Amino acid sequence: MKHDILIIGGGLAGLRAAIELKGKCDAAILCKTYPNEAHSTEAQGGINAAINPKDNWQDHAYDTVYGGDFLNDQDAVEVLCSDAPRVINELVEFGVNFNRTKEGEIAQRPFGAQRFNRTCFAADRTGHALLHSLYKKAIELGINVYNEFQVVALSTSQKRISGVIAINRANGEFTAIQAKAVILATGGAGRVYGKTTNPDNTGDGIAIAYNAGAGIMDMEMVQFHPTTIRGTNKLLSEAARGEGAYLINAKGERFMKRYAPDKMELASRDVVSRAEATEIMQGRGVLGDSVYLDFRHLDKEIIMSRVPDIRKNALDLLGIDIIHDPVPVQPGQHYTMAGIATDVDCKTEIAGLFAAGECACVSVHGANRLGGNSLMETLVFGRRAGISALNYAKNASFDAIDDKLLKQEELRAKKWTDNSKKSELMPRDIRLKMGKIMDDFVGPFRDAKMLETARKEIAKLKKDFENVAVTEHSDVFNAELQAAYEVSFMLELAECVVASAMHRTESRGAHTRTDYPKRDDKWLKHILCYCNGPSAMNHGPRLAYRDVKITKWKPVERKY
Ligand code: FUM
Repeated sequence: MKHDILIIGGGLAGLRAAIELKGKCDAAILCKTYPNEAHSTEAQGGINAAINPKDNWQDHAYDTVYGGDFLNDQDAVEVLCSDAPRVINELVEFGVNFNRTKEGEIAQRPFGAQRFNRTCFAADRTGHALLHSLYKKAIELGINVYNEFQVVALSTSQKRISGVIAINRANGEFTAIQAKAVILATGGAGRVYGKTTNPDNTGDGIAIAYNAGAGIMDMEMVQFHPTTIRGTNKLLSEAARGEGAYLINAKGERFMKRYAPDKMELASRDVVSRAEATEIMQGRGVLGDSVYLDFRHLDKEIIMSRVPDIRKNALDLLGIDIIHDPVPVQPGQHYTMAGIATDVDCKTEIAGLFAAGECACVSVHGANRLGGNSLMETLVFGRRAGISALNYAKNASFDAIDDKLLKQEELRAKKWTDNSKKSELMPRDIRLKMGKIMDDFVGPFRDAKMLETARKEIAKLKKDFENVAVTEHSDVFNAELQAAYEVSFMLELAECVVASAMHRTESRGAHTRTDYPKRDDKWLKHILCYCNGPSAMNHGPRLAYRDVKITKWKPVERKY
């Protein structure tokens, strides 16, 4: 198999890149499942753009930089926010059914840490509406999609990309696919945590880029969403607070007045998550580990028309009707602000390798992402990745894929299968332990002691992983083999999160060190992780720095 450009991932960023490339070269998408199952569908509350004549993209950009506690690369933020209004028009052309005002304009709701009602939405199913419109467009255009291919390694030749190694999940075959350029659009790494809103983001693209020698950046910056449903951590969209729902503690008090008197529940996500965690730690939580999200004062019509899925999810998962009762919620991992380091044209440090969407760190979000900016990021940078990859591929040739790489991956899988003769340790056993370690020691509050515990425990798990067993021996849709790869990737990424969090001795955005409680602008730099060996397993990352790009906005203290 051979294509000019391979796009790994069929979510919004991958689809948008493919749409850009259609008719200009031979491009194909490789998708671990199916595009309409991509994680983009989970983004619920909306997509930000300064489309109101009273708003402007510079204000959107400033809110983004201020919200990111000034770790954002401002050149990337300028690209994101200035291109956003065009993207909304394009989405309307693609058929997205945005909610409208009585006058027929696109409706916009308030979202956290923004000074204008800037979030366009399709009820509380915005990601779903966007994904299905783009997928329909891709089908209309006849875009070539290989479904059910799991990419497990990138192939490089003389520091240039030459293709990928993928498992055809339908028959278990390891396949080398040549390409002049590869775009990674594989999403984040939320499953590194136990309590996460991400059903299946296992960080594959970030890990394979890291293993191939690309730098991954800002790994300590993990977003915890303030309103995940107690127990399952299913996302309960920020749209709830945008439409007026309150957070209350066990005393029925709107506690956000103590933490963000101006913005209250619509402060930035890091601030609200920490406030909840503090209430819980100080004994004012409900059920020991949550706070309540209260809708009871809202008009029933608003609930039914604007947040119907929130009501359905609370009913399905907890049997609670938000019209009559408050819902217990708790902070949970939601988004990977980190990712493969790129420039504004989505170029990584490997020639011919590009990245866009949640797997990339451009970095538009800095130390804390604003809700509604991630959907926009996928579309702005998905398109740019397509353009950059095409420019690159025009002057590139096909390089051979090293046979040794294919053999190495086949042997890796065989070792896991052979282990089943002597071990009963399943990939999920390791994943569950890893998630608990990350929840307990690398959550919204961290300190040196907690991080050292996490470092040691993850190192121990990596050692244990040598005995991991794939007990399923079928070649057809071997879910255990898939999981073994995913867990091996996530262990490497967990190690990078911990190493970067230990290294950053300050508190900024989502990274709160209780032993270094203040922001310290000597840390106004990105931390990059590089793989030390041919595979990072058992080696740990090498750390390096990159300057933060400041174009217009000087760092100031952040307050809500
Ligand atoms: O809460 C939400 O609807 C999530 C949106 C986002 O992460 O952008």
